[in-house]
Amino acid sequence: MSKILKVVGASWLQTKISSYILAFLGILAILALFFGQFERIQGDGNYAATVFYSDKTGYRIEYWGESNELKDIARGVARAYFRGDIETNGWSLLEVETDGSYPDEIQAYAAGIVEGALTWYLIHMHLENTIRAKCEDQPLEKNCDKLRDALDKSANIWKYYADERAPVDPFWHHVSLYYTQIRGIYTGWKYGIEKSMLEYETDISDLYWLNAVGEVEEIQHKLNISMEDSVFEELPSLSSSFVKVVNESEDGSIKRLFVAQDSAGSYSSMTRIMKRYKLNYHVTSRDSTPAPGSDVEFTGYPGSVTSQDEFYVIKGDNHRLAVTGTPLKIYNNKLWKNVNITEQVPIGPRITAANHLSSNVSTWGHTIARSNSGTACKQWLVVDFNKMKNVSDRHSEKNTITETMLDDDTKHTVVHRAGTGRAKGLIWLIEQVPARTHSADISEAFLEKTYWATYGLPFFVDIANVTHTTKMEELFGTIFSETSSPRAIIFQNGYKNATTLESVIKLMRTNNITAYNETRNKINCNDDNNCILKESEHWNILGLRGDLFEKHKEAYGIIDTKVVTADSKDSLDFVAISSPQFTETKTENATKINKGNLASTYTDQFDDVPVINGLEIRDLIKQQQEEAERETLELLNKDAVKPFQWSKSEFKDDAHEGLPDIWNFGIYRPNWSW
Ligand SMILES: *[C@@H]1O[C@H](CO)[C@@H](O)[C@H](O)[C@H]1NC(C)=O
Ligand SMILES: *[C@@H]1O[C@H](CO)[C@@H](O)[C@H](O)[C@H]1NC(C)=O
Ligand SMILES: *[C@@H]1O[C@H](CO)[C@@H](O)[C@H](O)[C@H]1NC(C)=O
Ligand SMILES: *[C@@H]1O[C@H](CO)[C@@H](O)[C@H](O)[C@H]1NC(C)=O
Ligand SMILES: *[C@@H]1O[C@H](CO)[C@@H](O)[C@H](O)[C@H]1NC(C)=O
Ligand SMILES: *[C@@H]1O[C@H](CO)[C@@H](O)[C@H](O)[C@H]1NC(C)=O
Ligand SMILES: *[C@@H]1O[C@H](CO)[C@@H](O)[C@H](O)[C@H]1NC(C)=O
Ligand SMILES: *[C@@H]1O[C@H](CO)[C@@H](O)[C@H](O)[C@H]1NC(C)=O
Ligand SMILES: *[C@@H]1O[C@H](CO)[C@@H](O)[C@H](O)[C@H]1NC(C)=O
Ligand SMILES: *[C@@H]1O[C@H](CO)[C@@H](O)[C@H](O)[C@H]1NC(C)=O
Repeated sequence: MSKILKVVGASWLQTKISSYILAFLGILAILALFFGQFERIQGDGNYAATVFYSDKTGYRIEYWGESNELKDIARGVARAYFRGDIETNGWSLLEVETDGSYPDEIQAYAAGIVEGALTWYLIHMHLENTIRAKCEDQPLEKNCDKLRDALDKSANIWKYYADERAPVDPFWHHVSLYYTQIRGIYTGWKYGIEKSMLEYETDISDLYWLNAVGEVEEIQHKLNISMEDSVFEELPSLSSSFVKVVNESEDGSIKRLFVAQDSAGSYSSMTRIMKRYKLNYHVTSRDSTPAPGSDVEFTGYPGSVTSQDEFYVIKGDNHRLAVTGTPLKIYNNKLWKNVNITEQVPIGPRITAANHLSSNVSTWGHTIARSNSGTACKQWLVVDFNKMKNVSDRHSEKNTITETMLDDDTKHTVVHRAGTGRAKGLIWLIEQVPARTHSADISEAFLEKTYWATYGLPFFVDIANVTHTTKMEELFGTIFSETSSPRAIIFQNGYKNATTLESVIKLMRTNNITAYNETRNKINCNDDNNCILKESEHWNILGLRGDLFEKHKEAYGIIDTKVVTADSKDSLDFVAISSPQFTETKTENATKINKGNLASTYTDQFDDVPVINGLEIRDLIKQQQEEAERETLELLNKDAVKPFQWSKSEFKDDAHEGLPDIWNFGIYRPNWSW
């Protein structure tokens, strides 16, 4: 399909006349756009744009600048606004809406263009901090090129294959739209850079990579290339998910659900964007029935149309789903042969199809199981908030387990345990590894336990076995145990107290410097990788921070916490914190000392100092009081963990262009307009 991009607002003639002046102004504009807390005089920080389309002229983008009434922004095919709030909140914000009266392919391309054109600078910075820092003129460059080739090839094959099937098969239609949207981002990104007159490089394979961050590890193993030398590679994933149900009313008839996730990542990758896509797609390119999942919100990164840390909230007419995925590690090298992103569909398009096409957790689970590429091995928890209504009266039936072989070309077994009782369809657990997907409706067990957590260790025995996690447990002990690993214990001990948004967040961000130090002193082995595996005490912490370790220090760890919550009636509350874990230190007010009592104690001390006068006594008392307060505070803050700060850390030379220096952000609640 050939697409023409006609652009309004860029005068190529002017460019020729005074490109230097414009380039300078361009830089100023960018500075103002992204660092412009001070430059901005009255701007509201919401930069809006619209993409229009007509058969004759093709696509055309219009930037509206700041301070628009967002509700009135021209709709075109796709409109969007962007806020660069990372300095103040740790998050930027992007909301994109398309007009469902246009064909889906045009919506997808326009949605991509408007995103690329508004976020081009963040895409650039994020690439510099992550992929390019790793690949450009580095020893790994050759391996990076191999990976890029594999990603390009996969994208080209699947785009072509999906296009042909889009008129009749919903799955392939949405796979096709996924690739179209990325191509649109490429166009918008290039346009943004051209318009800025900056000579930044653009390459679509960079975008394919940004959209495959969650699966490059498996692809590397398949290609037998190595790009990470992190000690964390051998460990169970540090990311965790936690789902909890609490009684909101005395009789338990109204319940509240919490779905939470911590995700692990490199601190250089903290260019975060909270995105909301309101894409009014249809079931297939011929079927005019609207696709059920039109409203998808997620915590993401620049340039990627899926979350990558895999936390989604999906809304439709009759469903409100939350999806959280945490990685599983494969210790069985035989499994890599089943990874193939040209024979099977990568994770991004499958997630996109599942999000758009599902109105219940069962469809989501079945869609993600289709054409399993064996990449982005994950434990998924999929929750339907709208199924909370009928959970109080339950009855049990027999569990039915089905096992099917799918996909003639690659061996892929799908095991499914159907749910029972009235709560059926509330929550599914899906574990997916190369050649095997195991899913179950765990609603009954969840309501019994009142919580469910995933922390990088398989729940299903067959998955634990086939990934050799079971073997790892035999070799290295509880750190690989689903029931007694340090994080399993934290959840077992902590779930009861996690009954409010605050306490759920507190649990998810459990951390403690004393615990670090104790472990540190215990570590007493050479600097080999097995060493870290043996030191399971190291991992007694949920909000883990690699930068605080004594050995194996890395600017890597938990970088965020997300929670979505609602009861059976009210609307979803979605909050997110972007920061490696830290502790709010107690301030003086928390420890006011009773002055009356202290005064009498202290004055006794001065009885044998006859020359001292009242004022001097008062000053001395004040001094001693302050000292006592400081000591009390120090005691209270003993276990406190200081916020991560680039300039004060040993990692100040790691790539972190455009990132805030100090990471002490609190709860952020996106405020959507459309
Ligand atoms: C993977 O690469 C290493 C060298 O980098 C080589 O020794 C090994 O045989 C390769 N494995 C396979 C299965 O090709
Ligand atoms: C919630 O309410 C149900 C009654 O529907 C009760 O059985 C259960 O024990 C209650 N849970 C808690 C934690 O209070
Ligand atoms: C995927 O499978 C095809 C067909 O079996 C094969 O030609 C191709 O090399 C495989 N791809 C990778 C990356 O191994
Ligand atoms: C889920 O939705 C599909 C249609 O999208 C429907 O066919 C199926 O019956 C639903 N399943 C459940 C358990 O509600
Ligand atoms: C439970 O579901 C039934 C239909 O299956 C519905 O009629 C009833 O109103 C629901 N109960 C509640 C409390 O929503
Ligand atoms: C674990 O896998 C091995 C083959 O790798 C198989 O023989 C064994 O039966 C499996 N055990 C379980 C409990 O699934
Ligand atoms: C849970 O809360 C109770 C009461 O506030 C407290 O005594 C207990 O120590 C808490 N448990 C944990 C694991 O924090
Ligand atoms: C933890 O260790 C650090 C560095 O060794 C030290 O500065 C700090 O005082 C220790 N904190 C506690 C609570 O032991
Ligand atoms: C921190 O860890 C230490 C040692 O494990 C423990 O004694 C202390 O109670 C913990 N502090 C907090 C606030 O959890
Ligand atoms: C904390 O104490 C200071 C003076 O000691 C006072 O000005 C301030 O209002 C107090 N803040 C709170 C939140 O109580």
